Amino acid sequence: MSLSISLTINGQSRDIAIDDPRVTLLDLLRERLDLVGTKKGCDRGQCGACTVLVDGRRINSCLTLAASLDGADVTTIEGLADGDDLHPVQAAFIACDGFQCGYCTPGQIMSAVGLINEGKAGDDPERVRELMSGNLCRCGAYQGITEAVIEAQKVLVNEKGRDAA
Ligand code: FES
Ligand code: FES
Repeated sequence: MSLSISLTINGQSRDIAIDDPRVTLLDLLRERLDLVGTKKGCDRGQCGACTVLVDGRRINSCLTLAASLDGADVTTIEGLADGDDLHPVQAAFIACDGFQCGYCTPGQIMSAVGLINEGKAGDDPERVRELMSGNLCRCGAYQGITEAVIEAQKVLVNEKGRDAA
């Protein structure tokens, strides 16, 4: 059975034919659309490596059927930077040493962007850790990740304040 869906991916409209209705968003991104920045860790919703934004909300793309997303707006790690200008969350991960091997990093960054968008991050490291607990890091770079989320949130709140002034 073949079906067709329309998605906006990183700002671009795409009409996509799907041969297998069981294909996940993660496999669609990586295997059909060459967007391999989104990583496959566990493929069962336990590690967060596959986190992307759908309509601004963070989700595990390994648990989401692509066929269920007709009309959705998907943002992956490839869609964050503006040309050579890194997104503030990407810049903060570098500044705060928020990674080691980097395998979990795209998922961590997308989850951080979603969390900051939700307006829930605050500046309490314990709370940030809890709200990022769906994203595992085998290298244990949690301290840098938490600092990066708090740092990026400050930058984004300041930017919003400037834009509103
Ligand atoms: Fe999706 Fe691990 S690959 S949660
Ligand atoms: Fe290696 Fe997180 S930086 S798994």
